[in-house]
Amino acid sequence: MKNMTVNEIRESFLKFFEGKDHLRLPSFPLVPKNDKSLLLINAGMAPLKPYFTGLQTPPSKRVVDCQKCIRTGDIENVGKTSRHGTFFEMLGNFSFGDYFKGEIIPWAWEYITEVLEIPKDRLYVTIHLNDDEANEIWTSKTDVNPNRIFRLGADNFWEIGVGPCGPSSEIHFDRNPELGEIKTAEEFVEASDNDRVIEFWNLVFTQFDKDEEGNYNKIEHTNIDTGMGLERISTIMQGVDNIFEVDTMMAIINEVCKKANKKYKENANTDVSIRIITDHVRSVTFMIGDGVLPSNEGRGYVLRRLLRRAARHGRLLGIEGIFLSELCDVVIDSCKSEYKELVEKADYIKKVIKLEEERFSETIDSGMEILKSYIDELEENKETTLKGEKVFKLYDTYGFPMELTKEILEEKNLNLDIDGFNTEMKNQRERARNARGDSNYMGNDDGVINKIDKDIEIEFTGYTSLIEDSKAMILIKDEEFVSKLEKGDKGIIVTLKTPFYAEMGGQVGDKGIICNEKFKAEVYDCKKNAGGKTLHFVNVVEGSVSIDDEFKLSVDETRRNRICKNHTATHMLHEALREVLGDHVNQSGSYVDDERLRFDFTHFSAVTEEELKKVENILNEEIMKVYNVCTDVMTLEEAKNSGAVALFDDKYADDVRVVSVGSFSKELCGGTHIKNSGEIGLFKILSESGVAAGTRRIEATTGEKSVEYIENKNELLKEVSSALKCTEKDLLSKVQGLLQELKDKDKEIQEFKNKLTSGLEDELLSLVKEVNGIKTIVTSVKDVDSNSLRNLCDKLRDKLQSGVVVLGSANGEKVQLVAMATKDVTNKGIHCGKIIKEVALIAGGGGGGRPDMAQAGGKLPEKLEEAMNKGREVIETLVK
Ligand code: ALA
Repeated sequence: MKNMTVNEIRESFLKFFEGKDHLRLPSFPLVPKNDKSLLLINAGMAPLKPYFTGLQTPPSKRVVDCQKCIRTGDIENVGKTSRHGTFFEMLGNFSFGDYFKGEIIPWAWEYITEVLEIPKDRLYVTIHLNDDEANEIWTSKTDVNPNRIFRLGADNFWEIGVGPCGPSSEIHFDRNPELGEIKTAEEFVEASDNDRVIEFWNLVFTQFDKDEEGNYNKIEHTNIDTGMGLERISTIMQGVDNIFEVDTMMAIINEVCKKANKKYKENANTDVSIRIITDHVRSVTFMIGDGVLPSNEGRGYVLRRLLRRAARHGRLLGIEGIFLSELCDVVIDSCKSEYKELVEKADYIKKVIKLEEERFSETIDSGMEILKSYIDELEENKETTLKGEKVFKLYDTYGFPMELTKEILEEKNLNLDIDGFNTEMKNQRERARNARGDSNYMGNDDGVINKIDKDIEIEFTGYTSLIEDSKAMILIKDEEFVSKLEKGDKGIIVTLKTPFYAEMGGQVGDKGIICNEKFKAEVYDCKKNAGGKTLHFVNVVEGSVSIDDEFKLSVDETRRNRICKNHTATHMLHEALREVLGDHVNQSGSYVDDERLRFDFTHFSAVTEEELKKVENILNEEIMKVYNVCTDVMTLEEAKNSGAVALFDDKYADDVRVVSVGSFSKELCGGTHIKNSGEIGLFKILSESGVAAGTRRIEATTGEKSVEYIENKNELLKEVSSALKCTEKDLLSKVQGLLQELKDKDKEIQEFKNKLTSGLEDELLSLVKEVNGIKTIVTSVKDVDSNSLRNLCDKLRDKLQSGVVVLGSANGEKVQLVAMATKDVTNKGIHCGKIIKEVALIAGGGGGGRPDMAQAGGKLPEKLEEAMNKGREVIETLVK
């Protein structure tokens, strides 16, 4: 058996299948495209589903790749066992209606016995109970020992959620051959359960497409989908018994140990923490590299959970402060030969991790304190379940993912009330939804529109023309294919040719008209179905249209033109932001319609006014250079070499469109653009804001809308100056003058108030009472604000020379309270803090302070007199 590194094994697999005419594809991003059934890619076949089902045509019928995967189903076991990890790489070769069992079985055998040189007497094979064909091929086309082929049931039918699936054949490695030959299927299952044999390659004979209802629908052609866990085969090849001990993982473990000043394999508990950090930091590095950002939902939440769990285990190891971002370098270094994009994005990934770590570190210690007090309370009361509200509080206020709280409780043999927590979450979501007002999506996603024949080729002519003749291929109404749409109907029209751009890549769909002499329909939206077919969403306003009717499709030109301006400006904005803020700026989302453009991008602090000004200036300067906007079609490789900016989650196609704005910007894009930058006219930034940690948003306008924006400002300026009765030129000095006047008036008012209270002074001085030889004034006064009340109190104390003053005033809904005493009486037992505390309690508030001075507020004006009485009482007890 050869000793090979992880990177060598990956390369040898890819090369082997390239030798069998497979097209090598780079790993797809971890974020699935057009697949709502999945949060994260969890198997090599996941991003290839449309090729299996025939919804899309693959770039080649034979494909080989090494796919990044994340599975979080077993997350609790990560670190505790030697086999579980959230991140792994899956080597796979695929046939889309090309070769089948007869080829893959002998190839698999050839690869493992001749390339990897695994001894045949260490190998076992399983097949599905009823799969005589696989049995026949294994025995006739390979020299596997026929007594080592076992037939199993469900274990040899592969499926994961919905999608392509089928019977499988698995190849297993025997770690303890000295225990003797495994003779029966029962013995085999036992050996597998106790880890004597480990499965390392799964050959799936994909023949079904499982739907949401659980039906297994036969796929027209047969496929092959294989998966070999790279880390797992590496443990075999490197003779270690643990995925964490293969070379690439060991490099990370060593770095964690260095940071924690701990040795691996010295203490079972610290080993768990070390492995958790090692696994999780790999996952988060790759996820962020593929554009996921921490959040409270979906994948963002998975990322947050992993990051925070790792951060907590860092604390358990005694690592102080921020450390995860620093581990990224080792992760990236260990796999940079395959994932070059990680090297390019290293700074960005580290920044995102650091930001999230910093956020959590602000609350983790106080959160841990709180949780500890909850745990003490549970133990004191001999209870075992932490209430949902408390779990929610930890989540909401201290950023503790529920799962983290659960894990910490489990370490003490306690659990939590998940239902209660979920109810709190639901309530919060509802509150948020109510606050937001829900928009209702048109909901046509999963039904009839995806049953449109995949072989229909629709030609899009809208890059160059806005009017096209075509005919009705398909009509849809109320979720059904129909032969006719009539006046008043809302429906969908599919045509062979269309100039209408269907919503994609952040650009909205076109609107317009479809008509002939007999009918007219307004196209109010245009989208693609899952198979990429363009759907015109229409309201029929005149006549009727039937299948095969010919008509004219006309895109609303003004609207399209505005969209194009905004789209080209978005590319230019991207470039200008990179120039002003730096190369870490990457598009993380965009939305372009005829009103404005919205651009989300990675950046770590608010963009300053000055930076925004610069960006706007650059854009307007470049616009005025009247650059030609050109589109070239080329291969992805050529595009990258030409320096075009590609986005995180763009899927791979043979040919890509590269849109360049003169020499200024070059970007991969399928959208529609203007012909010359000059058409943008004027670019105006409307707003800048934060949308998530590390993501900023800019909204802007172009062309007519920018002019409209300026005009509105002008109009406002005119109205304001007319209201202020001055010219626009004098506006600023006029406003400054007015502000000064206001200030002067404020001063006057304050002086006036002081005068009023000074009249009060004498009145109040007459209320002095002696308590045990100490002069006291305790009284309420009418409608005095807190500033004036303090002034008044101060003056009264001075006039008393020796004594204590307690004043209260009701001001609208609020009560103000203040107490002051001279030094000598505080020595005799007077304590303003104590007085105010009790007085405030009655007035519905709280507060306190020093012996010589204290103040507080309250919410119960009607209790003011009672509170003052309390003040008198307290003074008496204090000086008794
Ligand atoms: N799709 C199969 C798996 O993930 C190969 O195991």
